[in-house]
Amino acid sequence: MTQAGAHPGPVVISPVVISPVVISPVVISPVEIGPAEIDAFYQVAGARRDIRNGFLPDPVDDDALTRVLAAAHQAPSVGLSQPWDFLILRDEGVRQRLQRLAQQQREAFAATLPWPRAQAFRALKVEAILESPVNIVVTSDPTRGGRHVLGRHAQPQMAEYSAVCAVQNLWLAARAEGLGVGWVSFFDEHELAAALGLPGHLRVVAYLCLGHVAEFPPAPELVMSGWARQRPLAWAVHEGSWGQRGLPGAEPASLLADTLAAIIPPDAAAAEAARQRQGQLTKPPGSLGYLEDLSVRLAAMAGECPPPLPEPAAVAVFAGDHGVHAQGVTPWPQEVTAQMVANFLASTAVVNVIAAQVGAEVCVVDVGVAADLPAGPDRNTGPGQDTGPDRNTAPGLLPRKVRRGTADMTVEPAMSRAEALQAVEVGIETARDLVTAGSRCLVTGDMGIANTTASAALIAAFTGTDPVEVTGRGTGVDDQTWSHKVDVVRRALDRHRPDPADPLGVLAAVGGLEHAALAGYLLGAAALRVPVILDGVIACAAALAAVALSPDAAGYLVAGHRSTEPGASRTLTSLGLRPVLDLDLRLGEGSGAVLALPVVQAAARVLRDVATFDSAGVSGKKE
Ligand SMILES: Cc1cc2nc3c(=O)[nH]c(=O)nc-3n(C[C@H](O)[C@H](O)[C@H](O)COP(=O)(O)O)c2cc1C
Repeated sequence: MTQAGAHPGPVVISPVVISPVVISPVVISPVEIGPAEIDAFYQVAGARRDIRNGFLPDPVDDDALTRVLAAAHQAPSVGLSQPWDFLILRDEGVRQRLQRLAQQQREAFAATLPWPRAQAFRALKVEAILESPVNIVVTSDPTRGGRHVLGRHAQPQMAEYSAVCAVQNLWLAARAEGLGVGWVSFFDEHELAAALGLPGHLRVVAYLCLGHVAEFPPAPELVMSGWARQRPLAWAVHEGSWGQRGLPGAEPASLLADTLAAIIPPDAAAAEAARQRQGQLTKPPGSLGYLEDLSVRLAAMAGECPPPLPEPAAVAVFAGDHGVHAQGVTPWPQEVTAQMVANFLASTAVVNVIAAQVGAEVCVVDVGVAADLPAGPDRNTGPGQDTGPDRNTAPGLLPRKVRRGTADMTVEPAMSRAEALQAVEVGIETARDLVTAGSRCLVTGDMGIANTTASAALIAAFTGTDPVEVTGRGTGVDDQTWSHKVDVVRRALDRHRPDPADPLGVLAAVGGLEHAALAGYLLGAAALRVPVILDGVIACAAALAAVALSPDAAGYLVAGHRSTEPGASRTLTSLGLRPVLDLDLRLGEGSGAVLALPVVQAAARVLRDVATFDSAGVSGKKE
């Protein structure tokens, strides 16, 4: 492998001798590849980087470029159709025009981001069209070879997938040559094809910037900038069936078991350091009241003092329907759940508006809505390419339906134990995915007509409280409906007698799919040491399930507000959590939690940024 900054020759993969320039029609039979070559291969694969910063203006040697293209051309392809072509662009004027197109797309993307994300995005470089001396457009011709290309009839997109294999070969070969490659996807494909004057039957697969570089970063630039994290391999490998995660040879473990095993108590040393630091900040000790306690807790969660800023933040609104709706516990029709999901996706619900104000992202997780949800824009890529209903979802929607609403808990268990587990795992995955995508604070949200009834049943079961004390008025039911609701909760509990020592059993008997998913979401956040802000009574009920599964998870929960629902207060007492806000809110959706976000963020920021008496030269209080 070559050293950063050098202008090296090819990696010679001895003893396989492959003509570097000519693609011979003769197949050279592979000979043995020894340990050194294997090692070199893994080094190249591991050291390959997407490069945007630090391209050098030095010209790229034609022979080296040809070798790199030859490697690309050796890629596998559907039916050996070799659907790719490589258009090399060097002309500065052409690249300037294309760079302007990319700039427009970059701005369009920035405009869609919550403001803390937009701010971080502005600091990122996403293309090096002008800085790199060579640009290569990789196209795919889905018509090449006629209609009988082996394997392409069933999946026409295989032509493009094959061209992507060529891109990857190119990327690896370039790295071996010491050349950097950056893939630019900030293009409207049709606009780019028109600007390049490409024939109409071609698809543009990749726009690549290539050249010598000052250095290869040790990790993806997006990781180094804090924009995103990498998923561990173990999260991505399933053995035998989807969801049976584990590396080859390892005992397959359930996602829940793995998550529970990863949760550790918040760090006492970091908490103590935060307490000490609060005493040194330029303010009277204790004068920031509960904000100081919050900062100590945030430090303990992260195991760092001062703690990282809980920004950017993401709200996941888990949506599900409830069979107990049939008991007449609410005047609202069940269709409202799906209608509100559409409202969230249109960014026009209360939670969206408050989230926009505080700069949080909102995503909606359909974990159990009874109705079909509206499809998103048609992303089919060509005739006969049905991407399937789940792949055609609206932006911002995570389609993770476990079942179409729960069963009526007064008649039968709300769901099976397996379904409860599946919903919990949906929540864990949601937390993981949001955190790896860069979120440093998670916020709970929920939607489900009749879900305060299931919440009351869960809270009564976990805290051993009589249903009359923890059943609230939800959307605002009258006295008669409230009494009936209490009776419904009581009947469900009498029927199932759920055992609080068996949290999954409680969720299955009287919970909702969104409660189970929220419990998983809280556990997922705790396992990744990320603070999670609870909204109202639905999140509280889920928190009891999560803490029953892992008592240490309580250390990562922040109560966003005190809902007027009595079950919420009962839970906060039980979990020993003090709410950040107390504003008589009872909407749900995540609205109260996201409203508390700036306070939580300020708690961390104060501990990070306020000067100490020493640093500011301010005299402390006389003893
Ligand atoms: C299909 C594809 C499109 C990409 N588009 C862009 C892009 O437009 N801008 C950018 O900065 N990076 C882009 N990247 C690079 C990724 O951000 C990068 O591969 C990822 O962060 C991992 O980093 P690494 O390639 O250095 O391992 C793209 C990567 C791929 C595979």
